Amino acid sequence: MDQEETFLELKNIKCVRGDRLLYSKLNFSCGNGTLVRVAGPNGTGKTSLLRLLVGLMQPQDGQILWCKKDIKKLKEDFWKDLIYIGHLNGVKDDLTARENLLVNCEISEHPIDTETADECLKMVGLEGFEEQRTGSLSQGQRRRVALARLYASNHAKLWVLDEPFVALDTKAVENLSKLVAQHVKNGGIVVLTTHQEVPIPVENKVTLELRGGVWLGQERRLKHV
Ligand SMILES: Nc1ncnc2c1ncn2[C@@H]1O[C@H](COP(=O)(O)OP(=O)(O)O)[C@@H](O)[C@H]1O
Ligand SMILES: [Mg+2]
Repeated sequence: MDQEETFLELKNIKCVRGDRLLYSKLNFSCGNGTLVRVAGPNGTGKTSLLRLLVGLMQPQDGQILWCKKDIKKLKEDFWKDLIYIGHLNGVKDDLTARENLLVNCEISEHPIDTETADECLKMVGLEGFEEQRTGSLSQGQRRRVALARLYASNHAKLWVLDEPFVALDTKAVENLSKLVAQHVKNGGIVVLTTHQEVPIPVENKVTLELRGGVWLGQERRLKHV
């Protein structure tokens, strides 16, 4: 595939939440093999931007394109290329850590075996917790169950990760940084938010900086990117 080809494009995005205009006229595009860090202080709309990007929220204005097509039209053809791990983990309390992972992979039509699942859980520091009901795990551990899926998600070109490093210990942060770098090296696109500066060894990284919006009615023109 052409390295220069644009895969992900945000065109003229406007996002309003409550009585706050978070951003308008936001434009961004990137191609194969890019790490995109969405940065900015709390409340500037990082999570909102990721939710727009994966189609869970609609922008007030503008379009999100994947391979030059509107994600609203692509639907399943976009979702099959996508892994989104947000704050709400998408893990089921009544399943074990291992079962959650197996089920999630099954649903995305890339099933894995038990051995692979346990390897993935090990990478996020959940060795020994494979058969524990997820509902009895800590919030941080539940997030790790969700993140474990990335270790079996090479097939999905676009990874969108909201604060993926927050719940992880040092070793797991190191593992995930390497995994993200490898995915980018393989031509994937990873869009993530982080509070802390995590050194991810990739050449092609860009930062999309959000600067804080304005209350609706204010006149100041927003400038981004
Ligand atoms: N469900 C909601 N309804 C109304 N406003 C919201 C909602 N969720 C978030 N917001 C507001 O949108 C802004 C951006 O939130 P968010 O995208 O979570 O920012 P960040 O991830 O950068 O901390 C915040 O000011 C927040 O108060
Ligand atoms: Mg957030």
